[in-house]
Amino acid sequence: IERTFSILKPDATTRNLTGAINAVIEKAGLKIVAQKRMRMSLPEARRFYAVHSERPFFGELVDFMVSAPVVVQVLEGENAIAKYREVMGATNPAQAAEGTIRKLFALSVGENSVHGSDSADNAKIEIAQFFSENEIISA
Ligand code: GTP
Ligand code: MG
Repeated sequence: IERTFSILKPDATTRNLTGAINAVIEKAGLKIVAQKRMRMSLPEARRFYAVHSERPFFGELVDFMVSAPVVVQVLEGENAIAKYREVMGATNPAQAAEGTIRKLFALSVGENSVHGSDSADNAKIEIAQFFSENEIISA
């Protein structure tokens, strides 16, 4: 059993799609073991995406993430990290497979509805940025 970190991004919350996306997550066999709606601060968004700080789209990405509420989540399941990446689909919705969250809901490569951790190390770091262990209820 593995945990991954997920964000339902501003384009999802503003279009009232959090329940529809959660339905896809749960249908895939992933369990939402922690969840909160929040407004990300600018320092939080910069820290979260620090690995992308040299990329040309960094400013746009951070501005987007603070533009409206997000829902941060911890998902649990067998191979949760890889499974959620599969369920999310390709970063660019134009390249995302049928049935994936990004194919179903994303608007563009920037407004692509969800984030999911890309490795076990990053999942740990990302979960710890937004949740304390006693907020994660597995049972
Ligand atoms: P995440 O799960 O969000 O990390 O997506 P990813 O791993 O599929 O993509 P990556 O880590 O390469 O990029 C992180 C995020 O930066 C993406 O999800 C996009 O929201 C954003 N991003 C990537 N490329 C572009 C771009 O060309 N323009 C803009 N505006 N945003 C981008
Ligand atoms: Mg990534």
